[in-house]
Amino acid sequence: MYFQPSEEHLMVRRAARDFALNELKPGVIERDELQMFPIEQIKMMGELGFMGMMVSPQYGGSGMDAISYILVIEELSKIDASAAVVMSVNNSLVCYGLEKYAAESQKQKYLRRLAKGEVIGAFCLSEPEAGSDATALSTMAIDMGDHYLLNGTKNWITNGNSASIYLVIAQSNPNKRHKGINAFIVEKGMPGFVVGSKENKMGIRGSDTHSLHFNDVKVPKENRIGEDGSGFRFAMRVLEAGRIGIAAQALGIASGAYELALNYTKERKAFGKSLADVQAIQFKLADMATNIEAARLLCLKAAWLKDNSLPYAQASSIAKLFASETAMKTTTEAVQIHGGYGYVKEYHVERLMRDAKVTQIYEGTSEIQRIVISRSVLR
Ligand code: CAA
Ligand code: FAD
Repeated sequence: MYFQPSEEHLMVRRAARDFALNELKPGVIERDELQMFPIEQIKMMGELGFMGMMVSPQYGGSGMDAISYILVIEELSKIDASAAVVMSVNNSLVCYGLEKYAAESQKQKYLRRLAKGEVIGAFCLSEPEAGSDATALSTMAIDMGDHYLLNGTKNWITNGNSASIYLVIAQSNPNKRHKGINAFIVEKGMPGFVVGSKENKMGIRGSDTHSLHFNDVKVPKENRIGEDGSGFRFAMRVLEAGRIGIAAQALGIASGAYELALNYTKERKAFGKSLADVQAIQFKLADMATNIEAARLLCLKAAWLKDNSLPYAQASSIAKLFASETAMKTTTEAVQIHGGYGYVKEYHVERLMRDAKVTQIYEGTSEIQRIVISRSVLR
């Protein structure tokens, strides 16, 4: 057991912290209010190597480990959880999915640009009638010989409009149920592919979430990822990795709110003393610190297992479940500690509270994580 971060980990965390404070913090309230995508900041994150952190340099990535990746996600999420989710989807769903499961020609064509941050990717599984129940897809991809004909609608797609490359999971043979599902690389601009309306969200409002419509889109056969019928397994495997990123996002939201609350208790006076001297407030801080420490260790454990090529599905679901519940509890208490000031935008904690909620919903709700964990422990 060794609990000290390496020099390299400390360096990358420092770089992320500086970037978050200098480039993300200014304008974060405005971007939230106006639902503005952080386009300039994402370009800079590409230049810093944050958009393909774990991708091998051979494919344009930074070649770092999953621990470095979660340290960066945590730092960015303390300030701007929207920028962090753009990064998380690009890294741990899209780039990871391509590097691990795509053919060499597909990696050459798509992965390099994604890993360098020249283009952004999206991962498209959910549909209007299929979210948690991810095998119930009605988007169809029918084999037409040299291409697949794609028809249907995807919902809630992060980077929906800002992306150029989309990994789309669709059903090719309903008789085979989940074994008929395939994953495809779809490019923006393919005839019949239309980006639908943008969602007006409670939180992570700087990220763009859209529905996508596919009307007789001809997807070349060479754009299918993996063997025929391997798409559901692909999606599940990719989500195992993705959930570590969302766990780290939740951890960052919680620690950002905690740091703000901690500082506030030292500044704010009530009844002739500072809030930091009130035991009821001290106990809130103790609970926040305890949950955050536990969430951090769970995130690190899941990332460590991945880095060491050990099974990590259960660990990533445990980390996501605990960190997202911690994010919701901690941000709610941070608003409470701020009193009325916590309820207005200038103090940042109300945004973090709104941002926290989605970490209990996307990449598998808390209930779905409990299904994954309980199946794993009972197996
Ligand atoms: N790895 C490999 N294979 C897996 C797997 C995994 N982790 N999990 C399941 N499978 C396989 C099973 O082995 C089974 O295959 P066989 O029949 O060949 O054995 C097949 O998949 C079906 O598995 P289940 O019977 O367990 O399927 P289920 O219908 O009970 O559903 C589920 C399982 C875990 C609930 C799954 O549907 C799920 O994860 N749902 C949540 C979906 C989700 O997380 N969506 C996120 C969308 S992306 C997103 O949200 C991004 C963002 O916000 C930023
Ligand atoms: P449902 O599946 O309808 O669930 C509704 C409620 O019922 C939930 O509380 C759920 O936990 C509960 N429930 C359902 N089944 C069970 C069960 N068997 N046992 C216990 N409880 C159950 N998807 C993508 O594919 N790509 C993206 O990029 C993406 N980005 C997103 C961004 C945002 C901002 C949001 C809000 C969602 C995004 N999603 C994305 C979709 C997200 O993954 C789904 O919303 C999520 O998986 C839940 O699906 P649902 O919304 O259909 O809810």
